[in-house]
Amino acid sequence: MCGIIGVCSIDRNIAPMISLGLRRLEYRGYDSVGVAIVGEGGIQVWKAKGDVDSFLSRFKVDSIAGRTGLGHTRWATHGPPNDVNAHPHMDCRGKIAVVHNGVLRNFVALKNILELRGHSIVSETDTELIAHLIEDEKHFSSSFFEAFVRAVSRLEGSYAIAVVNEDEPHRVYFARVKSPLIIGVGNGFNAVASDIPAVIEYTRRIIVLDDGELGWITPGEVKVFKLTDEGLMEVSREEILSRVVFIEWGVEAASKHGYPHFMLKEIVEQPDSVRSTYEGNVSDPVLETIASLLASSDNIIVTGAGTSYHAGLTFTYYLANIAGRHSIPIIASEHRILEGAVGRGDVVVAISQSGETFDTLEAVRAFRRRGARVVGVTNVVGSALSREADIAVYMRAGPEIGVAATKTFTSQIMLLTLISIYTARETGLLGGSEVKVEVASLAEAPNIVRESIGRSLEIISDRELGEHRSAYILGRGLGAHVAKEAALKIKEIAYVHAESYPAGESKHGPIALIDEGFPVYFAATTDSPEITGNIMEMAARGARVVVVKPEDYKLPVGVKEAKTVEMPPTRGDIKLDPYALTPYFQILAYKEAVARGYNPDKPRNLAKTVTVE
Ligand code: G6P
Repeated sequence: MCGIIGVCSIDRNIAPMISLGLRRLEYRGYDSVGVAIVGEGGIQVWKAKGDVDSFLSRFKVDSIAGRTGLGHTRWATHGPPNDVNAHPHMDCRGKIAVVHNGVLRNFVALKNILELRGHSIVSETDTELIAHLIEDEKHFSSSFFEAFVRAVSRLEGSYAIAVVNEDEPHRVYFARVKSPLIIGVGNGFNAVASDIPAVIEYTRRIIVLDDGELGWITPGEVKVFKLTDEGLMEVSREEILSRVVFIEWGVEAASKHGYPHFMLKEIVEQPDSVRSTYEGNVSDPVLETIASLLASSDNIIVTGAGTSYHAGLTFTYYLANIAGRHSIPIIASEHRILEGAVGRGDVVVAISQSGETFDTLEAVRAFRRRGARVVGVTNVVGSALSREADIAVYMRAGPEIGVAATKTFTSQIMLLTLISIYTARETGLLGGSEVKVEVASLAEAPNIVRESIGRSLEIISDRELGEHRSAYILGRGLGAHVAKEAALKIKEIAYVHAESYPAGESKHGPIALIDEGFPVYFAATTDSPEITGNIMEMAARGARVVVVKPEDYKLPVGVKEAKTVEMPPTRGDIKLDPYALTPYFQILAYKEAVARGYNPDKPRNLAKTVTVE
């Protein structure tokens, strides 16, 4: 978590670039904000608890003069959010400033050593130690870079850091291990940042740094080195040039474009994002490679966190019911449960929008150590997952800024359904012409999602959940997975305790909580007519029941006591149900959050990309 940016320019004041970068990075954390600018008189730092907008206006950041600087937006790990713990952090003499995203595992050991050596440490953060460590290493080094490298090689854990020092006012040093970092290559300036949207207004030429890389930028130069067991190796200029990628999407994709929140914009974008996933992947030969791997593997393990895990659950459903292949879903942070049983011949499908989620990457690393092959499903080209997986496949949903995943969920389902269909050809369950029919039927998904968004925006009231602090969101079969994601959205942004479990389980415990008016929502998918019984048992006990279903799906028995919400028809095609039902719950959560006075783009305690344990 945390967003970092460092910029140096030959001829312009960089404060506005840092301000914009911070706004774009705010999704990574918003506990505190800070800026360091290297000016005539040395390094000046402004930092405070709170969000980016208040910080920028309080310190009039845009009008600060200087051509080199750093910015940081924090998601607290070491030390609570307050002014002192806000980044940038400095050494004892205020000559070095550091911003950091990550967690240092050897924090305690480093702190003890530095204190023994007389450094005065003022914050509770691990980051501050980096500034003191460089300061300390300067005594043993012939250049600042040497001290920087020596300091970095003593860090354990995860870090993406950017550093400025008073003696070299036109340079930003950087290093990364396990936390993302990119370089934006500009005209007359260069920048480092945690993510592409931070620099996209200014340049679309991007280098994605690899783990273990470090170096510096000046306004006209990018120097990258690799820290290996054999020592420091410089990455050649030719290699750096060959790694520059041109980002196709632009400013519009990373801005709200008139919507009050990114979340709403991204919900409404789903017809386009789902289409882009479909059209961008349907003929990609990599899906066939993945399909044959899945068909011939001993075991298939599906892993991810949060929304990506829920998309993974739908994948296990489609793999079983379309391709006849059993797979084991495992929440990434729980990978140890399976580790001992995984080996060569197994395939892991790891799903992560950002491709940077720590838990998912750790699961991937653990399973790879056991000899399994990994398919990485991600939205971010060049992300850690795309590089650590044996095969990477991209969602092509466009950037998602809202912390609560929305459009990437439907895109993940689309991509994973395509993979399931191609796997069915490999397992012999579908013939060539049947595959064509199945694939063609998915082309309807963007229209269904559009229609579902339109209906939901119209029918869902601002306070659907009233004063209730709890709700059940239930489903059976595929609907159980759609419901799980629905409940997560409501929890994440409306702060209502929404619980989801397979509807058949009600009678084994949860129904005890039902009293008059308790909200129970059903995501009724076309594979599970038995859900009628579960609807009736809830209604009979006075619950306020809402059944969300495709309009052409007729439940076997009419349930008079339940309100039915008709979503677009799916012709009984279970592959299309998620597009009909998901937007309803996304919009319910969104409206509920806004009506309760919460900002859905910045849910408390959460961050979009969780790069810590
Ligand atoms: C965080 C976000 C969730 C997201 C999860 C996994 O917890 O708040 O919305 O689903 O990370 O993210 P990933 O990038 O791996 O899909």
